[in-house]
Amino acid sequence: MTGLFPDTRLRRTRASGWSRALHRETVLTPADLIWPLFVTEGENVEEPIASLPGVSRWSVDQIVSRAQEAIELGIPCIALFPNTQPDRRSDNGAEALNPDNLMCRAIRAIREASGADIGILTDVALDPYTAHGQDGLLDDDGYVTNDATVEVLVGQALNQAAAGADIIAPSDMMDGRIGAIRAALEEGGYPNVQIMSYAAKYASAFYGPFRDAVGSGGLLKGDKKSYQMDPANGEEALREVALDLSEGADSVMVKPGLPYLDIVRRVKDRFEVPVFAYQVSGEYAMIEAAAAAGAGDRDALVLETLTSFKRAGCTGVLTYHAPLAAKLLNG
Ligand code: PBG
Repeated sequence: MTGLFPDTRLRRTRASGWSRALHRETVLTPADLIWPLFVTEGENVEEPIASLPGVSRWSVDQIVSRAQEAIELGIPCIALFPNTQPDRRSDNGAEALNPDNLMCRAIRAIREASGADIGILTDVALDPYTAHGQDGLLDDDGYVTNDATVEVLVGQALNQAAAGADIIAPSDMMDGRIGAIRAALEEGGYPNVQIMSYAAKYASAFYGPFRDAVGSGGLLKGDKKSYQMDPANGEEALREVALDLSEGADSVMVKPGLPYLDIVRRVKDRFEVPVFAYQVSGEYAMIEAAAAAGAGDRDALVLETLTSFKRAGCTGVLTYHAPLAAKLLNG
């Protein structure tokens, strides 16, 4: 050994399992996980999603069972996304305001079966409801309008809150929607419904399988770059987070996950608020593809990546691997 401190050996604390356990800085538990689930019409239906091997769309009765499974695994929260029937999609996404839409029926069914034992996070954005697959309303030039879209999003959020949602999670990236939704929730009698803002959401190539899952992929014309963030930008993410917090967000999200852990760390250091990350569909698919190709061990890849989110500063992670990870962690 050379140097000023010849007796320093960083390998000393790594030499045995008990010592590694003692010195571990980051701990991952099932309570760190949010499980995203896709809802579809019908009864007793499970529809596997080809681009997301191991993930299915479930009918409402089956979603109730998945919620029960989450409770048993110690997963505190599920996130719901609807695969709206094609004939209920329209240019203005009006189905988002229907109190009996798929999403609201799923929320109510989970509430009836599981009471308050599980958190229900609901996505606010119009893409599962629009005929064009964009997250908002289009003007004559095909531009996604901001303020008119926010008005509909407010109605969508109130609709979900009325059905029993615990956390409203706007994923649309319109300006000003957090403040507008917060004000409407207060006025509407839902002061304890939380908002988890998708604050730093990037225009990413990792969302493909999700769009298959909610059925918007084939409909989408163009891209979402006029509202989702440029992957090249970091400072802008801090401005997005600052704005959403000032408008009343209870927690913020960075999305996608692994390619953006630097953003997670910057947000955590700067704001010291609850930060979540979404390990998105394309990231899930990459791990599954690696495992299927024999390029890595699935269980180890899952636990390593999820631990990395926590090390980067995440309070929790949305991941399609939530049930697998929870089973592994529960031993
Ligand atoms: C849309 C939305 C997307 C995701 C969550 N909400 C896709 C998009 O912005 O096109 C992606 C999640 C994933 O890929 O797992 N509002």
